[in-house]
Amino acid sequence: MQEERGIGDWSQVSRVTHTGALLIGTYDRFGGSPENRARILVEILAAMRERTRPGFVVAIKINSDDCQPGGLEQDDFLVAGKMLSDAGIDAIEVSANYTSRPNIRAGVNECSFLPAAEALAAIVKTPVVLVGGVRSLETANAVLAKTAIQYIALSRPLIREPNLINRWQSGDIRPSTCVSCNACYRTSAHACLFAVGH
Ligand SMILES: Cc1cc2nc3c(=O)[nH]c(=O)nc-3n(C[C@H](O)[C@H](O)[C@H](O)COP(=O)(O)O)c2cc1C
Ligand code: SF4
Repeated sequence: MQEERGIGDWSQVSRVTHTGALLIGTYDRFGGSPENRARILVEILAAMRERTRPGFVVAIKINSDDCQPGGLEQDDFLVAGKMLSDAGIDAIEVSANYTSRPNIRAGVNECSFLPAAEALAAIVKTPVVLVGGVRSLETANAVLAKTAIQYIALSRPLIREPNLINRWQSGDIRPSTCVSCNACYRTSAHACLFAVGH
């Protein structure tokens, strides 16, 4: 949203998603300690750097909590995020398992993963992206103003209203009309239930 903080050339972007829980104890080098569990991400990043031109953007969407017994929790996520930042990843998008939380209401319970994203942004220089439950421009701007988080990502609001950003830019800053019902997970081409008139 704020161009002067640009991540880089997004014309070719690659994103990897953390699969922490799947790796627990699978291999000695990749299981056990938080550092070992994050190692595979750093190694994938290094391999991608070897095969891509300088400036190629590599970002990760990573769970701040797997929400599963034995899965990654926030302290482990902070270790992984710091390691990825030190290894030169271009951006870190902070999510969690069950990322599309239901019943989000603007001004009431927005920003499902704000504490984790804020904690990471406080310890890394890499741009941190907040995703999950952002529904209003007011909230998005407050997050950018009050924390070190540098970007906001929207998913369901843009499925509901692909023109949302233009609407906000034109001065109509009413919140997203997405009701977080998650019906778009089950419709053809992930269309919004209300937009396709089912
Ligand atoms: C239909 C649909 C498909 C999705 N597919 C993926 C996916 O493949 N990988 C992923 O990491 N997140 C996926 N997500 C989750 C979103 O990227 C986002 O993290 C989540 O919906 C929370 O953001 P929101 O509240 O702005 O929707 C999907 C979401 C929806 C609604
Ligand atoms: S079906 Fe539409 S209103 Fe429901 S979550 Fe998806 S985008 Fe939002």
